[in-house]
Amino acid sequence: MTDSTAPARPLAERMAQIETFHVVALVTRAKELEAQGRSIINMVIGEPDFPTPQPILDAGMAALQSRQVRYTPSLGTPALRDTLSGWYRTRYGAEVPATRIAVTSGSSGALLLTMGVLLSPGDEVLIPDPAYPCNRHFTRAMEGRPIGIPVGADTGYQLTAELVAQHWTPRTVAVMVATPSNPTGTLIPLPDLQRIHAEVRARGGVLIVDEIYHGLTYDQEAHSALEFTDEVFVINSFSKYFCMTGWRLGWMVMPQRYVADVEKLAQNLFISNSDIAMQAALAAFTPQTLAECETGRLRFRDQRDYLVPALRELGFDIPVTPQGAFYIYANCSRITRDSYGFCLDLLERAGVAVAPGIDFGEHRAAEHVRFSYPKPIPVLQEGVRRLREFLGK
Ligand SMILES: Cc1ncc(COP(=O)(O)O)c(C=O)c1O
Repeated sequence: MTDSTAPARPLAERMAQIETFHVVALVTRAKELEAQGRSIINMVIGEPDFPTPQPILDAGMAALQSRQVRYTPSLGTPALRDTLSGWYRTRYGAEVPATRIAVTSGSSGALLLTMGVLLSPGDEVLIPDPAYPCNRHFTRAMEGRPIGIPVGADTGYQLTAELVAQHWTPRTVAVMVATPSNPTGTLIPLPDLQRIHAEVRARGGVLIVDEIYHGLTYDQEAHSALEFTDEVFVINSFSKYFCMTGWRLGWMVMPQRYVADVEKLAQNLFISNSDIAMQAALAAFTPQTLAECETGRLRFRDQRDYLVPALRELGFDIPVTPQGAFYIYANCSRITRDSYGFCLDLLERAGVAVAPGIDFGEHRAAEHVRFSYPKPIPVLQEGVRRLREFLGK
């Protein structure tokens, strides 16, 4: 029984600023339809469709069998931090001491800690629009103000040093980019990233680079910001390249002077990361695991190479071929100017789930949809067949 005279329960003002994922409504509806026996082609979810590589699973099982699963140091086990430091040396030729690396609960944990140590109430963070939606909300949760900067095909859907300069205000403290990006799959060329970094540093701010989709590039290798500077926050994760979404493990690299504050915050917010996941992740950089991940990368490349032309043929505009991640950000304005309504309709009538632009920002959001393609090609082909039928082509 509800008591209508009871006072409203307390609710923080900041919650009014936190939006839900619109896509959640679509995913819920897709599940309902599946429960009714409908077949759904799900091109919404942003995760690899194959299992965690076997050596990681084996190491995780050995960790369980050791019966020694405990709290660990808040910034991660020394063994994993050392392994990550070695990875930066072999993969990027960058000297990153383990002391500047914090292991976190997914890269989500890293983003929360980063915003937590950088932002005071009202501080502004420049973020491209479109971008990964949670970036806005990590900022708001820490009482900062995310400032979405509209970006389009002309800059590969990425920020530039000029855009940073134009939008900088006395309240700006940080700029956040992702390369490759979610939702566009585009990279920031190394010289452009260096220019953005120089602009941000010249203004006394901090650059945050989300490198979570590193390893998943198809035409060129992605460069890390750590190849040219120590003065940067780099965010990464075991979720995507290593197919470990459910293990909730990521990491961040930070300038030395932030380490003590990140540690203090991590101790209080999380105590420690998952010990099992960290023991398992020690096997992530072995030749056998990397070989499995490379097989996955080649599959994603083939899936991209199938889906991009197929969507273009159906009337979607994809002016910049995505170079990484596993997303295609497609302009659907020749088909509809209400991408959210289109997504709902497409799911209901054709059984195909894709993400509406509104989840990634405001800039021309109603003209865009995002396709997530880690699916076997026959499944993607069936999705395209249903789309063609739906569009009456
Ligand atoms: C750009 C980007 N950053 C961060 C995340 C968070 O991932 P996780 O917390 O699993 O590492 C995601 C997830 O989709 C993402 O796309």
